[in-house]
Amino acid sequence: MPTVPFLGTTISAMALKISVIGTGYLGATHAACISSLGFEVVGIDTDAAKIAALQNGKVPFFEPDLEELLSAEIASGRLTFSTSFDDLRDADVHFICVGTPQVKDGLAADMTYVNGALEAIAPLIKAGSLVVGKSTVPVGTAARLRARLLEINPDVDLAWNPEFLREGFAVDDTLHPNRLVVGVTNDRAENILKEVYAKNLAEQTPWVRADLPTSELVKVAANSFLATKISFINAMAEICEAAGGDVTVLAKAIGYDPRIGSRFLQAGIGFGGGCLPKDIRAFMARAEELGARQALEFLREIDSINLRARARVIDLVRRDLSEDLMGKKVAILGAAFKPDSDDVRDSPALDIAVQIHAAGADVVVHDPKATHPAKQRFPALTFTEDIDECLREAEIVLHLTEWKIYRELDPSVIKGLVKRPILIDGRNMLDRSKWQAAGWHVRALGRADTN
Ligand code: UGA
Repeated sequence: MPTVPFLGTTISAMALKISVIGTGYLGATHAACISSLGFEVVGIDTDAAKIAALQNGKVPFFEPDLEELLSAEIASGRLTFSTSFDDLRDADVHFICVGTPQVKDGLAADMTYVNGALEAIAPLIKAGSLVVGKSTVPVGTAARLRARLLEINPDVDLAWNPEFLREGFAVDDTLHPNRLVVGVTNDRAENILKEVYAKNLAEQTPWVRADLPTSELVKVAANSFLATKISFINAMAEICEAAGGDVTVLAKAIGYDPRIGSRFLQAGIGFGGGCLPKDIRAFMARAEELGARQALEFLREIDSINLRARARVIDLVRRDLSEDLMGKKVAILGAAFKPDSDDVRDSPALDIAVQIHAAGADVVVHDPKATHPAKQRFPALTFTEDIDECLREAEIVLHLTEWKIYRELDPSVIKGLVKRPILIDGRNMLDRSKWQAAGWHVRALGRADTN
């Protein structure tokens, strides 16, 4: 068994005990995945209900494969959960996985939970242990936290290890990341992380050692780039609409250039979720603090192109319903910010639903997984898990989250349910010719109407 130097002594790598602070999306997935590598892991969260669910093998959100993994790891005895920070005293490596949402009164990230986690664990953790931040934070945070940590507890260390998992693929992305980035200030911290990720290293996962600020920047730079790619294609959609072109053909054609690549060029109602929107805003806020506002000025435009896509769908609805939405039934397919997730944070689909509802329409939203969290967030909207009920007597149908079940709908069958067969494909994912052949009028962003 490999060994790792630990405070001058050596201990067996598999004997490393790990704690994960914050058991939301990132932390619950990370805890279960690290446990599956053979480590003893304790997940800590101050939310007693969340911990109670996890202890019973229940994941409080929808993520493919996670619940099975979680149950197996709990059964193995390696994975436990607790609300008490006392239970992490024994651990050698502490991953901070708490959230950094957007502050209520600005663009910046709210650091309350990250700061709170550090203050809570700093006096408790044992000499020689390593704190590893995974949360997405403004650049400069890791160095600040490290200084604070050493002030409270000089015998420990802090590193940064950003996470790139995608919701809907969280388990696979965590077990088989396309790269591992470690922000460290010394070899010892890197060596400990090499032991934690020994399996990935054996699989030749690229390993990037960076300083603390670069490791924090990698994460926000990656999300900014992805957001930019999506808004780029949505800007092209606006141009296609003005010029009579077709953005889906344009995306396909430019995507064949390997320097551009075809992924993240799906034009539609744009990006949402708990990451991309808040990350680009927090990045802008931080750049301003650093006196580098101009460098990220383009992200302001990326954000507005993104929000404009939502408004453009509403314009299409108005156009087809003769401007007057009052009392008209609008069927909305999708509430989650993307398929295979029940996450409704900054969901473009729900934002559109809310705006159409506010204009007086009778909106009914369907989603296979997200109706419960969506209803909690927007109790005034009507939700159903019955697609037929959603579509019945609708004057217009909006396809806003590209769940597979919507691609499997038979347009000739559901035409019999609606009042008027008008479809807006907000994700450019449905087979337009099939829907048109069944008698539907199909509208989409970035494509001219053909019937
Ligand atoms: C994103 C990044 O992809 C992850 O690498 C990162 O780890 C994560 O944020 C995070 O910061 O934690 P995620 O939020 O799960 O992951 O979702 P994405 O798959 O990136 O999709 C974001 C949004 O973009 C969705 O609303 C999706 O519908 C939209 N999108 C995506 C498009 O509109 N067009 C596309 O071509 C692709």
